[in-house]
Amino acid sequence: MSPDRTDSRPLLDVRDLDVAYEVSGSSWRRTTTTVVKGVSFHIDAGETYGLVGESGSGKSTTGRAILRLAEVAGGTIEFDGTDLATLGERTPLSYRRDVQAVYQDPAGSLNPRHHVGRAVTDALKRHGTGDRAERQDRAREAFAQVGLTDAHLSRFPSEMSGGQLQRVAIARALVLEPRLVICDEAVSALDLSTQSQIINLLMDLQQASGVSYLFITHDLGVVRHMAHRLGVLRKGELIEQGDTSAVFADPQHEYTRSLLAASPSSHPEGREQRRADRLARRRGAAQASEGAGGTAASASPTAPAAAASSPARPATADMRQAGPTRPMVARPEGRA
Ligand SMILES: Nc1ncnc2c1ncn2[C@@H]1O[C@H](COP(=O)(O)OP(=O)(O)O)[C@@H](O)[C@H]1O
Ligand SMILES: [Mg+2]
Repeated sequence: MSPDRTDSRPLLDVRDLDVAYEVSGSSWRRTTTTVVKGVSFHIDAGETYGLVGESGSGKSTTGRAILRLAEVAGGTIEFDGTDLATLGERTPLSYRRDVQAVYQDPAGSLNPRHHVGRAVTDALKRHGTGDRAERQDRAREAFAQVGLTDAHLSRFPSEMSGGQLQRVAIARALVLEPRLVICDEAVSALDLSTQSQIINLLMDLQQASGVSYLFITHDLGVVRHMAHRLGVLRKGELIEQGDTSAVFADPQHEYTRSLLAASPSSHPEGREQRRADRLARRRGAAQASEGAGGTAASASPTAPAAAASSPARPATADMRQAGPTRPMVARPEGRA
């Protein structure tokens, strides 16, 4: 890559990734099965990349390789220009801060005997951030950003709904100011209305902070709403990728077409109308606050204060057309 192109370097660059699991065998006769094969994609700063495919297609394994929880058998993963293979056995604290994960089951990663606020303060403590009082302040701010109140800080996981717990998981991830969050089926267990609240929250947070998402899901309806670009995994291979709107409008691969046809949520009755209604409400709220000379740019009560100084958030569909705030630069030929 020539020096004048460094500003267009993707945040995450996965090239020809192979990941294999050991399935049986002993020290002299290892048997492995390759579950991710030659996968290449990149994610720019501020961008959401959707990784879709059926159960068992290798989506989580790809995420685990990026998190350094699964061994890379071939190819490279570069984060901000650094090949992860050069990082050594122990993942540096800075990488563990930069790349966070949010999973399907937030309760599974929360201590049932601790107040949920402690999940956030403990994360800060692990990363050596602030003193006790400062960490508590940060936790309070993080909870506010995800639409939770101070009162929620001292709840136990068993006292919260699935959507609230997922907000806690998002607060815990975002408080570390990561650059990439891997959302692995992060909304898959939620009912439809909670799902769309969490998706809108993630999009608001992205707008405010410029974080990137790798959004892993089997639900095409979800990525359609969320992702700037997407890739389709089938049996460990990325068979198609492109701009979300282009893939939905004109899928190139037969398998993608069958996935689209099989996904009730990618074009259910009334979804377009509901989306149009939602956008109209947001536009109305934004215009109302502009008209009143107010500074609140977003209709969302959860939008961080940083959003208030930026212009009203573009409607979702427009935003997806325009891509992330940073202009996207054409990739060199032959690159995924
Ligand atoms: N720890 C493991 N050991 C062996 N095989 C695994 C392991 N984890 C996942 N697999 C296999 O790897 C394939 C891909 O799994 P996964 O990445 O979890 O798929 P997805 O997230 O798309 O459902 C599946 O066939 C699965 O059974
Ligand atoms: Mg999975």
